[in-house]
Amino acid sequence: MKKIVLLIIFCVFSFFLSFGQSDISLPAVNGNIGMDLNEAIENRVASRKYDGKEIPLEVISEIMWAGYGITLKNGNKTVHGYDAISGATSKNRYSVPFGWGKPYLKIYLFLKKGVYEYLPESHKLKFLTDKNLIKASGTSASDPSGVIFIALDIDKMPTFGNDVMINNVAFMTAGSVSQNMSIAGAVHKIHFLTEISMSEKKIKNNLNLSKDIKPLTILPFGYSK
Ligand SMILES: Cc1cc2nc3c(=O)[nH]c(=O)nc-3n(C[C@H](O)[C@H](O)[C@H](O)COP(=O)(O)O)c2cc1C
Repeated sequence: MKKIVLLIIFCVFSFFLSFGQSDISLPAVNGNIGMDLNEAIENRVASRKYDGKEIPLEVISEIMWAGYGITLKNGNKTVHGYDAISGATSKNRYSVPFGWGKPYLKIYLFLKKGVYEYLPESHKLKFLTDKNLIKASGTSASDPSGVIFIALDIDKMPTFGNDVMINNVAFMTAGSVSQNMSIAGAVHKIHFLTEISMSEKKIKNNLNLSKDIKPLTILPFGYSK
């Protein structure tokens, strides 16, 4: 009997220890999040001081989908039909436009309990590490609930165009992601700070990122204090 009780205690303890250390399937995004678009745009404002409170998973789900989610599976339909350029090379339409080829950005979510990569195809957060890299990101914001880290996956960029052009295209798409996330956050009174300065080396070393992954921006976010 004693052994069974100990086994149950061990299982419960292991469950709580492992909580958060696995992939997270995000809840489906509700079609109506209940705020007028103009009001959400008005509510978007940068913040530098946060209260550090955890953001509900439903809200994380909306922010990720707004930033880099798939809005139409298996069809890059535009108002005029199928787009000759993107339709030939990619299957899905995303919440943001991207130049040529397949989506070339990587979106990481730094939370206190660890780091995840957002996978738009499955609308999942892939668990990467249980390290809290919020401070290590180099953000100047105080106590954000999380940090979105956007990077370019150079391997996914088509080879035509010079480095400056590739950089411009990558930053332009990162800007679209950032704006969509900020507006989605504003609906829930969550604010974002756009930061181009960050601790690139610390982030890359901690996440073991290859040289083909080029940091673009960090977006600390949370409820403002
Ligand atoms: C492309 C871009 C990069 C920025 N980089 C930084 C940065 O590295 N550090 C920082 O403190 N603010 C940075 N800012 C400024 C803030 O993100 C923020 O936009 C500014 O405080 C204005 O606030 P508002 O958006 O509410 O008007 C940057 C802004 C932009 C648009």
